[in-house]
Amino acid sequence: MNIAVFCSGNGTNLQAIIDSQKKGYIKADIRLVVSDVPDCYSLTRAKNAGIKALVIERKNFKTKKDFELKILKALKKENIGLVVLAGYMRMLSGDFISAYENKILNIHPALLPSFKGSHGIKDAFEYGVKITGPTVHFVTLDMDAGPVILQSPVKVTEDDTEETLAEVIHEEEHKIYPRAIQLFVEGKLKIEGRKVRILD
Ligand code: GAR
Repeated sequence: MNIAVFCSGNGTNLQAIIDSQKKGYIKADIRLVVSDVPDCYSLTRAKNAGIKALVIERKNFKTKKDFELKILKALKKENIGLVVLAGYMRMLSGDFISAYENKILNIHPALLPSFKGSHGIKDAFEYGVKITGPTVHFVTLDMDAGPVILQSPVKVTEDDTEETLAEVIHEEEHKIYPRAIQLFVEGKLKIEGRKVRILD
């Protein structure tokens, strides 16, 4: 199976996915990295790993439809079977999601359905929760609302700052994202309504 990873930023999850694939834990081909931010570090990580990287910026297209058609064309060309959103800070349209129905994964740095949106760590920390942690889920039309695949609880201690909490959450992300991807690749994720059953 060919995988495309979409990123907008630092790409530590991309790196964890690349490393897992190199170790043979993810048995699939990371064919493409797609970014909407021209100078983000994810592109350097892709380059260092010898993975084809494309920068497709929204501002270069008149409409969101044209922008996404360009991405879809690139995915088709590489025969992509799974799209992995790893810090891709852009909402995909219904048309895009339909084209890859149940084949798009996302990671969110909070225990969904709590603290949706782009500041999941900060929002949870400021709310004062005692437990938070990342969620991997299927992408559906509503933001951060698709069926949950894996979650990892992280305790918030008295000494934590937003930064130390972020560090621990990222460490957990780097464990559960490769695992969820490999489960998908093995065909072990079965969506039953809101629930994802993990087959043995
Ligand atoms: C990750 O923490 C991911 O959970 C978050 O962006 C970060 C990307 O880090 N995604 C969201 O907040 C999506 N709502 P990375 O670029 O180092 O992988």
